[in-house]
Amino acid sequence: MKKANEPFIQVKNLSIAYGDNLVVRDLNFTINRGDVFVIMGMSGCGKSTVMRSIIGLVRPSAGHILINGMDLWALSESERSKIIETFGISYQSGALFSSMTIYENVALPLEMKTDIPTSEIKKRVEEKLKLVGLSGFGDFYPNEISGGMIKRTALARAMITNPHILFFDEPASGLDPLRTKLLDDLISDISKKTGTTVVMVTHELDSVMTIATNSVFIDYETKTVTGGGNPKTLLRTTKDDNILAFLTRDKTHIGGKK
Ligand SMILES: Nc1ncnc2c1ncn2[C@@H]1O[C@H](COP(=O)(O)OP(=O)(O)O)[C@@H](O)[C@H]1O
Ligand SMILES: [Mg+2]
Repeated sequence: MKKANEPFIQVKNLSIAYGDNLVVRDLNFTINRGDVFVIMGMSGCGKSTVMRSIIGLVRPSAGHILINGMDLWALSESERSKIIETFGISYQSGALFSSMTIYENVALPLEMKTDIPTSEIKKRVEEKLKLVGLSGFGDFYPNEISGGMIKRTALARAMITNPHILFFDEPASGLDPLRTKLLDDLISDISKKTGTTVVMVTHELDSVMTIATNSVFIDYETKTVTGGGNPKTLLRTTKDDNILAFLTRDKTHIGGKK
């Protein structure tokens, strides 16, 4: 059994470019087991790009991503896929199949990737729907439930394989502040209850402050990491104007006027 606080993902000197457009450069940070880890920064600073590199979708232009000490992008494609298959990933839109019921959407990864018998799949789906507060909604279609419920269905689907790590890109996008808070609390509870490591991309300050135990801040101007750690501690200790502006939503920090 792996222990909490052991390094799970180590990002070393990572740079990523789309063609000639360098998006981020020389990033260094570590995600530990049990973290609710937030990749934060202004829109367009490269958060989603970094996450896409960690989940095997965008090859870095330099540097390394170590998963349990294994260099993800130095592996063969099939070895890399095997690692990625152990991840639970919830994509930005929540992307459910509209022609499938909630039950069928959540069961899909097990139906596609495993030989688990139908009775066991049913048990697992019901367990996950209960965990996200959707017991009894299995027979509904996505267009029959609310936006918040769709996000929770996507969460149940990402967790259906019992992954050790869950990835979310802006999990609450499009939700109102109350539903955003409920979803954040749910993600935080699940991480505590199950010990699952969570990696989340967000530009929502409330989400950062309520649920993150660890973080990295990607600076839009310098395209690199200028701070990180527990966001509450970061807020107290940083001298960086862009981080202060982000964490206080007060732009007067920029330019050092305050
Ligand atoms: N597939 C892509 N091809 C080319 N450029 C991209 C692609 N995806 C993102 N970018 C560019 O990379 C930069 C960072 O984007 P992104 O990682 O989506 O930022 P964030 O998630 O922080 O808002 C932006 O300038 C964006 O236009
Ligand atoms: Mg993004």
